Amino acid sequence: MEENGAASQTTSASASLAANMSAGSLAGSAARQKESKIIVSGGQPLKGSITVSGAKNAVLPIIAAALLSDSPCRITDVPRLADVEVICQVLTRLGAKTLRREQFLEVDASGLAFAEASDEVVRKMRASILVMGPLLARLGRAKISLPGGCAIGTRPIDLHLKGFEAMGASIRKERGFVLAETKALRGARIYLDFPSVGATENLMMAAAAARGTTVLENAAEEPEIVDLANFINAMGGRIRGAGTKVIKIEGTRRLVGCEHQVIPDRIEAGSYLVAAAITGGELRLENVITDHLKPVIAKLAEVGCEIHEAENHMWIRNKKAPQAVDIKTLPYPGFPTDMQAQFMALLTRAQGASVITETVFENRFMHAEELRRMGADIRINGRSAVVEGPARLQGAAVKASDLRAGAALVITGLAAEGVTEIGNSHFIDRGYDDLVGKLRRAGAEISRRDD
Ligand code: UD1
Repeated sequence: MEENGAASQTTSASASLAANMSAGSLAGSAARQKESKIIVSGGQPLKGSITVSGAKNAVLPIIAAALLSDSPCRITDVPRLADVEVICQVLTRLGAKTLRREQFLEVDASGLAFAEASDEVVRKMRASILVMGPLLARLGRAKISLPGGCAIGTRPIDLHLKGFEAMGASIRKERGFVLAETKALRGARIYLDFPSVGATENLMMAAAAARGTTVLENAAEEPEIVDLANFINAMGGRIRGAGTKVIKIEGTRRLVGCEHQVIPDRIEAGSYLVAAAITGGELRLENVITDHLKPVIAKLAEVGCEIHEAENHMWIRNKKAPQAVDIKTLPYPGFPTDMQAQFMALLTRAQGASVITETVFENRFMHAEELRRMGADIRINGRSAVVEGPARLQGAAVKASDLRAGAALVITGLAAEGVTEIGNSHFIDRGYDDLVGKLRRAGAEISRRDD
């Protein structure tokens, strides 16, 4: 497979999985899905350099958007993640081909034939819903299982569906599926009640190949939206305003294959910055866009870290006892909800009381219980958590309840006395490319154990 440079093509779901990951990592991934733990021995300050991978939340919609063209798209800086495998499986079942090599992922949707993605693969990952926009645009029909994903709230898809309706699709929900149909999608003026990332992406993709102009108001402004818009524009799309609250999309039927490099993962970068901060370490990150990390950097500075930002890299050092800070999660450019759990881990070690308010998801404090098992003092009151520090953290057997909760437990383990065993580590594999290897090379005592 790709380690020896030979490419493989996918024709079935199992072949897709095989083609999308190297034999070694596929075997590892399968084992991880069974029963795998990450073991951390705390107390080592992180030191050295970590290269950040391509952004999970950018590459998933970009792979889905490749369905808009009937000629191949080549995507570079694709991270090695379980979620990338899943979206490629979804595409394969729709009749597209995915080809993974060391340097790129190629998606060829010329054979797109099925408008139905309604099986267990979709339920594994909420982002599968992102194929709906491209399917509606190209085939005029999309049938999808209601999506799954991390257990962080009810996460409805009403905003996606309302937008499709405004563009002329009729929507039906029946027995766990949602069915959207249209003779022809047409541009519309759509106001999103909340700046949902997924709804903005889905509607942007549908609108890119619809008739006429669509205006998305109160759109999400995340950097991953901008990356998706850049990808679609490289295909010949006409999207303006991505990264602001108003996005204008002129539809075109002529979207052609292109080449695109995925932006660095700001959440992965932020997680390593927090890991350096909690261990009193000194770390250089390569492949970062520091602009995307502004709220995270601001809070780390408030905690007491020294940070130096450069063109494509940055550096963090934390030699002082961390100070308590208050955090409120918000849509971009506010503090990211995907960094909330990792910051909670850090604030358990901070001097004083920190208040964390989660406004994006209604049920995203499940990591608090596990952090308490490690000695943290955390009180939850509705959407707020009060973290009293500094706690004496001790290693324990804990379980990840979702992707970022898993990262938070690893981070806590790095600072705890003794050994921490993090179960359900398959959640971490959804969104962190080689977390164990990257941390180990930066001096952490960390390993994986497949039981
Ligand atoms: C994306 C990210 C996820 C991140 C989240 C918020 C991907 C693959 N995932 O998820 O990592 O945590 O943005 O930054 O990019 N909502 C509705 N109706 C809808 C859609 C959303 O009520 O139709 C609500 C959700 O329940 C949630 C909030 O809006 O409370 C934010 O969701 P959204 O921005 O859509 O997140 P995702 O796109 O699912």
